[in-house]
Amino acid sequence: MEPILVTGAAGGRQGSTGRHVARMLLDRGQAVRAFVRSEDARAAELRTLGAEVIIGDLREITSVIPAVRGVRRAFFTYPVTDGMLDATSVFAAAARQEGLERVVDVSQLAADPGAGTPHMRRHWVSEQVFDRAGVGAVHLRAAVFFENLAVVADAGDGRELALPLGSPETVLPLIAGTDVARVATGLLTAPSGEIDPICRLTGEVMTIGKAAEAFGLAYAAQDPQEWRRGAMTLYGDPTTVEHLFHLWELFRAIGSHHDLYEVTETIERIGGHPPKTLHDFTRVR
Ligand SMILES: NC(=O)c1ccc[n+]([C@@H]2O[C@H](COP(=O)([O-])OP(=O)(O)OC[C@H]3O[C@@H](n4cnc5c(N)ncnc54)[C@H](OP(=O)(O)O)[C@@H]3O)[C@@H](O)[C@H]2O)c1
Repeated sequence: MEPILVTGAAGGRQGSTGRHVARMLLDRGQAVRAFVRSEDARAAELRTLGAEVIIGDLREITSVIPAVRGVRRAFFTYPVTDGMLDATSVFAAAARQEGLERVVDVSQLAADPGAGTPHMRRHWVSEQVFDRAGVGAVHLRAAVFFENLAVVADAGDGRELALPLGSPETVLPLIAGTDVARVATGLLTAPSGEIDPICRLTGEVMTIGKAAEAFGLAYAAQDPQEWRRGAMTLYGDPTTVEHLFHLWELFRAIGSHHDLYEVTETIERIGGHPPKTLHDFTRVR
């Protein structure tokens, strides 16, 4: 059976979308070629589960061409860090050369050339690169992952969820990383044919006050500059800090209403069942 290529298959702490996609495909009996960066315990686990594992760097064409050779479909994800546009260009060029028919890539809800954070604008550029490569790209424009809030909850004092989001009534569009993966799995295994190239994904829309309660915590409004001073210690990555600083600023400025703040039907239609709620997520983690 021809494998489906899954990048980011080891998973990280942003959403582990690639790890979930690899497992979901394997559970369906689909052959998987898992692309990982390091030979480590996560790679060994993927082999145990039945995946073919390829080690490489997504920014390096000599890694990516052999990975896409012999597949027709692929899942592409790259974390919020430096190098996403390099990785996209490399992957799109390799996918075009090897004649891929569908590439499902992870993007962000408000990807747009005028978007409020530099990384969202880069996501829009990435989408353009995939579109022009003619590889049947479908962009998963996802809301904020529950996992993003979990990182903050886990780093706190066990009483408060501290973020620079202003009022507890500030609203966030949210989704579980597993729901992003479920939709990706649905798209990667769907029959050939026309598919809308943009797939918006929001599983729940709620205030930060209610979100904190779902973690059993009280929301504490943090000063933005104070947040920035502590963020490098928590994330260890300047691109992540830059993105989140502007993202929190954007949510503060929007407040409670935006046209994109609605639960999307795509999760149930393509992923097979209704979105996971934040309460479901916090109950089992
Ligand atoms: N977090 C959010 O709230 C949110 C919301 C909407 C959209 N998104 C989008 O979701 C994406 C990130 O989610 P994710 O599930 O992929 O993140 P993740 O859980 O951090 O996983 C990223 C994976 O990519 C691998 N990787 C990193 N650099 C690589 C390289 N140069 N070559 C090969 N592999 C590499 C990592 O491997 P190692 O662990 O070995 O480094 C890891 O397995 C981003 O595009 C982000 O914009 C995030």
